[in-house]
Amino acid sequence: MTHAHITTWVIAFILFFVALSLQNAGSPKVKMVHMVLRLFYLLIIATGAVLLYMLASIPPLYIVKAVMGLWVIGAMEMVLIRAKKGKNTQMAWIQLAIVFIIVLYLGLKLPLGFHIFS
Ligand code: HEM
Repeated sequence: MTHAHITTWVIAFILFFVALSLQNAGSPKVKMVHMVLRLFYLLIIATGAVLLYMLASIPPLYIVKAVMGLWVIGAMEMVLIRAKKGKNTQMAWIQLAIVFIIVLYLGLKLPLGFHIFS
């Protein structure tokens, strides 16, 4: 299941950058890619929830990991929506970068799946 989780967020990030470049190019296809990206948000959350469900008890750090994971998704949406509206995306990008690093660190430190940092 960790592989499914990783696959979903890697694909989501690829779709995110594709949507962003379509957005910048002013292509109408951005709508479709954004919709598929939103479907992948749901898959990230679903696979993350299954990982949580597999645990006998949920230590606090897992809650932090899940909240930060949701925040990454929120920051991705913020970048795309603000770019669409022509607003400044700098704060959204900074948030995305910081929470993404925290989520990677926590995910890889926590006991399931790969542990590069523990
Ligand atoms: C884009 C957002 C997300 C990213 C980049 C991300 C990234 C990761 C990474 C790198 C791992 C480690 C996998 C491994 O050790 O093999 C992981 C594990 C996990 N993720 Fe996420 N995740 C995200 C969203 C979520 C969400 C929304 C939830 C909760 C609903 C969640 C719950 C979990 C859980 C429970 C684990 C297992 C932790 C462990 O290794 O023991 N993740 N995630």
